[in-house]
Amino acid sequence: ETPNGNTFDFKKGVKNRFETSPHMKKLPPEFVLQLERNPLSATLAEIPVIDLSGLNCPSEIRTSTVKAISSACELWGFFMITNHGIKMSLIEEMLGVAQEFFDLNLSEKMKYASEDVMSPVRYGTSLNTSKKHNLHWRDYFRHYGHPFQHSFHLWPVNPPKYRNVAKEYLEEIWQLAMKLGGAISEGLGLENGYIEKSMGEGLQILAANYYPPCPEPDKTLGLAAHSDHGGLTILMQNGVDGLQIKHNGEWFSVQHVPGTFLVNIGDYLEILSNGKYKSVEHRATVNAQKTRISVAVGHGPELKSPIKPASPLVDEREGIHYRPITYQDYIRLQQSITTRGKNALQAVL
Ligand code: SIN
Ligand code: FE2
Repeated sequence: ETPNGNTFDFKKGVKNRFETSPHMKKLPPEFVLQLERNPLSATLAEIPVIDLSGLNCPSEIRTSTVKAISSACELWGFFMITNHGIKMSLIEEMLGVAQEFFDLNLSEKMKYASEDVMSPVRYGTSLNTSKKHNLHWRDYFRHYGHPFQHSFHLWPVNPPKYRNVAKEYLEEIWQLAMKLGGAISEGLGLENGYIEKSMGEGLQILAANYYPPCPEPDKTLGLAAHSDHGGLTILMQNGVDGLQIKHNGEWFSVQHVPGTFLVNIGDYLEILSNGKYKSVEHRATVNAQKTRISVAVGHGPELKSPIKPASPLVDEREGIHYRPITYQDYIRLQQSITTRGKNALQAVL
């Protein structure tokens, strides 16, 4: 019995397309994407690096840290954080169990495959032969985190350490996200607990991505342009770069400093801030030499919550810029739009 009730029956000889990738010279045509230009030629972004220890300091340093976060949110929707309090050993353990999961044989991973975008646990692979075009050079798995009682029993049983490591990691990331949410609330002129309260019970989603070496990395993507549906995403990776963000209409690549986390604003915070902060569009490129693994953790409100601008931020003259929708319906809407970018957000304007 698998959590998603799958009965995948793999005929012998079905192979993960990626398994042959180191020897493959040409990108299979189903992965070729229409790209305006070589995605690997983007300029390097000079994104803000924020020392979070400032949030525990006496008032002046704390105030300037809150300001730094709020201007990074306004300018980039994106920043790196240092002194975040999460041990390097835990980050490495999390990457280790994600890697071990991806290294399992395909039939084991397929137990977690699902077509349902709301499924609390979901493995996805471009091996999926039902789709013939516009494939991405990626495998991923995704599952809900906090509040843990809803999904912990559905998380992968292999590798055996997976559940405990992921739980410890997600608990710490949740605390970190709430601390950032507090600073962001203050930066918006709201009380410290505003964002956390608006999320109700909240919903945390972990997405681990696996991008193996690709024969023609300039013709495809690991993950196409999108913005995240949640409020805050906290991202780390295995030391191999590939993330790009859109800033002032142009693509920039991000150089990740090991030991830091990348933080980005998602649609929920754009809406809550009534458009003061914009969710950042991003995508993942691939490369010919190295496997890249990233672990992104999103933080949004509970599924039934309506998402709408914070009333103190609604100017009487300007009014509300977004039409109210529940978080669940928003996720469904976003996942149903095939040309992603920020089209789901456009649809609720
Ligand atoms: C994501 O957008 O979820 C992942 C981006 C990345 O792999 O860096
Ligand atoms: Fe994302």
